[in-house]
Amino acid sequence: MPAFMPHFPAGFTWGVSTSAYQIEGATSDNGRGPSIWDSFTHSRGTVVDGSTGDIACDHYHRYAEDVALLAGLGVGAYRFSVAWPRIQPDGTGPANPAGLAFYDRLVDSLLERGIDPVATLFHWDLPQALEDRGGWLARETAHRFADYATLVAGRLADRVKLWITLNEPFVHMSYGYGLGVHAPGRQRLFDAFPVTHHQLLGHGLAVTALRTLTSSPIAITNDYSPVRVLGDTDADRLAAGAYHALHNRLFTDPILGLGYPEVPGADAAVIQPGDLDTIAAPIDALGVNYYNPTGVRAPTDPGNPLPFDLVPLPGYPTTSFGWPVDPDGLWELLTGLRHEYGDRLPPIHITEGGCSYDDTLDADGHCHDPERIAYLDGHLRAVHRAIVDGVDVRGYFVWSLLDNFEWAEGYTKRFGLVHVDFATQRRTPKTSYTWYRDMINTGAVAPTGALAPTGAVDVAPADAG
Ligand code: FCB
Repeated sequence: MPAFMPHFPAGFTWGVSTSAYQIEGATSDNGRGPSIWDSFTHSRGTVVDGSTGDIACDHYHRYAEDVALLAGLGVGAYRFSVAWPRIQPDGTGPANPAGLAFYDRLVDSLLERGIDPVATLFHWDLPQALEDRGGWLARETAHRFADYATLVAGRLADRVKLWITLNEPFVHMSYGYGLGVHAPGRQRLFDAFPVTHHQLLGHGLAVTALRTLTSSPIAITNDYSPVRVLGDTDADRLAAGAYHALHNRLFTDPILGLGYPEVPGADAAVIQPGDLDTIAAPIDALGVNYYNPTGVRAPTDPGNPLPFDLVPLPGYPTTSFGWPVDPDGLWELLTGLRHEYGDRLPPIHITEGGCSYDDTLDADGHCHDPERIAYLDGHLRAVHRAIVDGVDVRGYFVWSLLDNFEWAEGYTKRFGLVHVDFATQRRTPKTSYTWYRDMINTGAVAPTGALAPTGAVDVAPADAG
């Protein structure tokens, strides 16, 4: 094992991410309206442990303690999301002052600790009243989103350092409206294309609105999954291309001015003149979320309505979610984006990366999570390699600060650097918290002996930060 310590470029941003519904709780405090996730989790059989985000990490009431944890970690930035139904309880009209005031306090307390606020405007918690009018299937929702973005920026524009319009619109479209495993629980398969288009339109309209209010950079966060072809027939390669277009290109090509890739169900009738220009409004950064690659082969079951089969990838260790751990996939996707989009590609922030394991407190009340340290170590080395190979990556945000409400998996999947006892709300930093803190302090990934992936780093170090 070479004694090698890759240094990240000066100014590289170290952060952590959370989202409103997953941590805030207080779902009816101070005028917050219901969101689609409140309705979904309160319906039987939607979440594996029958839980809801009613309390979650109670962050709404405990944000000061959580900001102290961020300060202890030494992060330069914190990515949170604003709950639309706190700002507009029914999705339209004037802002609820108490809703804005909460984020105002949060942002100020971050700045007092020297932490840059990074605000995501939509992390899946649509006001239920808008869903009742069609949700993202309705074009009107795109316009309502721009109005809401204007209200939030009207209050926070001077202090938020990076704006993110949408989080993972592909997942929201496919899980929420295609398969129905997330809120709002609709199962339209490829008839969910209007959701794709209206989210993208909402993004473009919001970018245009934000431009007039802020000089901070504006981005969107997509999730990406490098596709591994399992099989060597033309049909397998075709299937892999189809999945790549759907997962990786559908929300990136139009934003970078290339229009839509060919995907099943794309319905030209929902695209109005001028929409593609609105969607391609210039952005300053691309948020990239990466968790794992996807195995794909040609469909084997003639009843399969999809043009591909998704198959488990053999040969990788897996997280407690069953997701394969593959740091090389992150290098592959970053260099792949550079290759695919060339000069159109803006600077990248990795806005999420992380893993769930069954972390427990030991008898002494400590939480040891060596797998998470290994995961982060490997993935940061992959990011470093991509930087050395010419990809402009500006920051890395660990998902997540806290164990939290993991959507359809409820509280069964722990992603935090900080363990949360959901019965008592007691927060216990895990060993990965200390590891990440030390990493941030030195600006480098220190060699970690057996944890370091062999041969992963074979490039000259970038300048020390
Ligand atoms: C991403 C979501 C985030 C979290 C992680 C594990 O898809 O953006 O909210 O649930 O997965």
